[in-house]
Amino acid sequence: MATPNPPMQTAIKPFNDAVIADAAARIVAGECVAVPTETVYGLAADATNGEAVARIYAAKGRPSFNPLIVHVATLEAAKQIATFSEAAEKLAAAFWPGPVTLVLPERIDSPIASLVTAGLDTIAIRVPAHQAMQALLKASGRPFAAPSANASGRISPSCATHVLKSLEGKIGLIVDAGPTSHGLESTIVALTESSIHILRPGPVSADQIEAVADVSASPREETTIDAPGQLASHYAPSKPLRLNAAKAMADEWLIGFDEISGDATLSPSGNLVEAAAQLFARLHEAEASDKPRIAIAPLPATGIGAAIADRLARAAHSN
Ligand code: TXA
Ligand code: MG
Repeated sequence: MATPNPPMQTAIKPFNDAVIADAAARIVAGECVAVPTETVYGLAADATNGEAVARIYAAKGRPSFNPLIVHVATLEAAKQIATFSEAAEKLAAAFWPGPVTLVLPERIDSPIASLVTAGLDTIAIRVPAHQAMQALLKASGRPFAAPSANASGRISPSCATHVLKSLEGKIGLIVDAGPTSHGLESTIVALTESSIHILRPGPVSADQIEAVADVSASPREETTIDAPGQLASHYAPSKPLRLNAAKAMADEWLIGFDEISGDATLSPSGNLVEAAAQLFARLHEAEASDKPRIAIAPLPATGIGAAIADRLARAAHSN
């Protein structure tokens, strides 16, 4: 069964080439590393590796899966992942690298793990300006999922000691480049064919966004959001979902865990990090199967299991 991760030694090291090489090796190995951006310190992991992304949630103790922002070094790299409209091109040209995140349709051939988008078909993406983040992106050659590097429910970290206070023992390395310049998270802009919505106000104002995109920006509709940072428009399977199923009924596709093997499994060894990484891909697969219903084996709601349980409860409730 799932065992909790033992505490890690957390090193804070000043930003230099050797530390970036160490951090890049950790990222490639699937670890998460705290690294400054111009907004706040981020907890970065390889966005193409679902288990690495799951470790972000485990370290933060986040009780639910929100879609995460993907960070890339260049606009060209962003175009491998998302489809850019004309307005999106204008915003990227004006504000990247910098503290603006664009929510765009994800490309079908995008290499990003499904846990990053929490199963949605759009993706939030930005090119950060900070030298340390840029150096780490280039050294690792990977896109990063990176939420703020703080424990869930705590204030966002604008210096390395905030990160340490909140995540000591949960991560191996904090790259310290002093206080961040903006101190609050990026402006998030969602683009549709005809409109733009500011999903999260940030360092770049709605007026600045409108002036560049040449489209008027509307704030997010209150009704689309459950709670701060929590989207109501989460991915939900189109078929009924039954939780805590020990075995499948005749018309069910069973997603197993641990000893319950099912039609597919989240983790045959009962590993919750692996289960989190597999969750959305297994739900999509179940949805595409020829069975009209989905059942899922019980999972312990401890550690990252709490986030899996939250997500499953929402998915089961919505149908
Ligand atoms: O400044 C920042 O943006 C920081 C630094 C570290 O770069 N990052 C950050 O990331 O705040 P994160 O992952 O915590 O932001 C996640 C928020 C979600 O709460 C959600 O509101 C929005 O980004 N988001 C992500 N994907 C989305 C999507 N597909 N559609 C709508 N909103 C999305
Ligand atoms: Mg945050």
